[in-house]
Amino acid sequence: MIGAVLRARATAHGGSAKGRPETVMAESLYYHTGTGNSLWIARGIASGLGGADVLPMSGVLNGPVPPDSGTVGLVFPVHMWGVPALVIRFLERMKDLRPDYLFAVAVNAGQVSNTLVQLKRILAGNGQRLSSGFGIVMPSNYIPWGGPGPAEKRNRLFAGAEKKISKICDAVKNKSDMPVEKGPLWQRIFFTALYRMSFSHVHEMDGKFWTDDKCNACGICAKVCPVSNITLADGRPACNHGCLQCLACLQWCPEEAIQYGKKTPAYERYRHPEVQLKDMLRSGG
Ligand SMILES: Cc1cc2nc3c(=O)[nH]c(=O)nc-3n(C[C@H](O)[C@H](O)[C@H](O)COP(=O)(O)O)c2cc1C
Ligand code: SF4
Ligand code: SF4
Repeated sequence: MIGAVLRARATAHGGSAKGRPETVMAESLYYHTGTGNSLWIARGIASGLGGADVLPMSGVLNGPVPPDSGTVGLVFPVHMWGVPALVIRFLERMKDLRPDYLFAVAVNAGQVSNTLVQLKRILAGNGQRLSSGFGIVMPSNYIPWGGPGPAEKRNRLFAGAEKKISKICDAVKNKSDMPVEKGPLWQRIFFTALYRMSFSHVHEMDGKFWTDDKCNACGICAKVCPVSNITLADGRPACNHGCLQCLACLQWCPEEAIQYGKKTPAYERYRHPEVQLKDMLRSGG
């Protein structure tokens, strides 16, 4: 499980005017994250809603299915122009839930493409209705294509994200029913084809990871991996081909010792500045 269960829930859903406790329909936000962007956004939405449970999707994969909740939000990064594998596994686990209001946020680096349409279809196949779906652009953590960009640009993205979070909170409070956000048609056709071609190969792409001499065998990479894909053998991390390509291991390595392909030694690492390593550590299992 990534991170401890984060309790952003406030207690103030109140009681009835007659002083009797009301049945409270809770708000639950489930997140998946590699470098903290989605966690930061989930926390921002929880705060804007006046309190909601903020829970890692990986915890649901390894633990009990949570009870029905009034409002459910899914916050996760776009991976290869679509829904990441871990989110698909999470949806399978949650398929019997019937939330009162279901919304999603696809966190991306500028190409949300068909992700939310794909998500809506998966949910519909499970008999669940996605009432709204939003994209939020944040700094890129896809280091094989370069670093996260200059600090000014990152700060502009954070400021834009805060405004979008506020709009999302308004929509959720009003239980708005609206079309999901999506990229241009050319992007959805071309990139969806790429997503379909690459999806079944993602788990073995960890073959391109390697560690340089800076590795001190601290084991942090293994602890941040949401699917326990890393083991330490002879003091060096080894991947076991169950990878999600979330890049948490590479981005959180304190020594910047994990590389992917040839170019990453020269590229800047990225982690959301308000998310800490302790938020990312698996609490077990
Ligand atoms: C394997 C991988 C694939 C990605 N694919 C896309 C993509 O198709 N479109 C996009 O806009 N961003 C893409 N990104 C960038 C992330 O979606 C973006 O940086 C996001 O904010 C990361 O959120 P996180 O910190 O919660 O993991 C990709 C990142 C990774 C690691
Ligand atoms: S986190 Fe980095 S330094 Fe620590 S074991 Fe993993 S690769 Fe080595
Ligand atoms: S091995 Fe690294 S990139 Fe793959 S799932 Fe684990 S943390 Fe993510």
